[in-house]
Amino acid sequence: MKALILSGGTGTRLRPLTYTTAKQLIPVTNKPILHFVLEQILNAGIKDIGIVVSPETGGSVREAVGDGANWGAGITYILQDKPAGLAHAVTTAKDFLGDSPFLMFLGDNLIQGGVRELVQDFINSPSDAIILLKRVKDPRQFGVAVLGQDSRVIRLLEKPQHPPSDLALIGVYLFRPVIHKAIDRIKPSWRGELEITDAIQELINMNFIVEAKILHGWWLDTGKKDDILEANRVVLDEYATYNIQGEIDDQSIISGRVEVGIGSRVSNSIIRGPVIVGSNVTIKNSFIGPYTALGNGSIVEDVSVEHAVILDNCHLKNVERIEDSLIGYNSRVYRKESRGRALRLLVGDDSEITL
Ligand code: G1P
Repeated sequence: MKALILSGGTGTRLRPLTYTTAKQLIPVTNKPILHFVLEQILNAGIKDIGIVVSPETGGSVREAVGDGANWGAGITYILQDKPAGLAHAVTTAKDFLGDSPFLMFLGDNLIQGGVRELVQDFINSPSDAIILLKRVKDPRQFGVAVLGQDSRVIRLLEKPQHPPSDLALIGVYLFRPVIHKAIDRIKPSWRGELEITDAIQELINMNFIVEAKILHGWWLDTGKKDDILEANRVVLDEYATYNIQGEIDDQSIISGRVEVGIGSRVSNSIIRGPVIVGSNVTIKNSFIGPYTALGNGSIVEDVSVEHAVILDNCHLKNVERIEDSLIGYNSRVYRKESRGRALRLLVGDDSEITL
């Protein structure tokens, strides 16, 4: 059994962060989403892993993951030269996949509980493919499945205007090598992409068995700012622990599940968990409220912040309340008392500021 992680795409909905970072590398609780995906795959016992990357972000993905030695895994990078769809990515990876069955995992998706059980079920199942589904309120932005008896999938549609069910395709699939034959038979969709959804429909047309599993836990598809904040909230809720490695002075109060990394200093401040503070962070005269992740090397002075993801090396100073915010690497947010109420901004392309 092999695994194929798709880590290409341009991440347009997460600009400006994705001008410098692959969307799969944006950290949730200070850890790149792609690392969570890798951990879940390794936890399912799969060690032969291919990562499909794009020319734009392939270098940064390689840098963040390496050759797999640190993970006890073998990692092969596969370059997809154009964003021509998920099924095109599988075709690009054909040499790596050979005639092995494989788990395909979209590198910006996180699911509760991992994929261990799902992989075991597939190994023991007569099905030619298993797809993971989740009931959602608005399925129009996803692939949608219709089930028949015994969890068999009878029909699939990619982003339908009028969804025939509320069962969305999550970015986790299990395939036997016959999927390559199905991909060879499909044509690009209206958006010009070879859709994996269409290839799975083709498997059904060819009378192969496609089985569905429904996920009851959470599923986080981290394509937009609010998705990242939600992912950060959910993951902190589930995994944050009380672990103080930095220095906390006597004037500070730490309550609840708070992690403070090595070399960080907290003075005259309140931190109310669940919160994660990276290493070498300085927090002075501030309030850090629930569901906040502060990246390594950041400085926070005279600030109140809550429900926010602040990436590495930011400087926040003198701001009464920052909330529901995602702040990119090396950003500075200041209030200068003497300058009255005027706003003075240096804002990157495609930024969003709500006043
Ligand atoms: C892709 C798939 C879609 C699936 C979704 C899950 O959509 O095409 O079927 O529901 O991932 O995240 P895309 O992210 O390409 O819009």
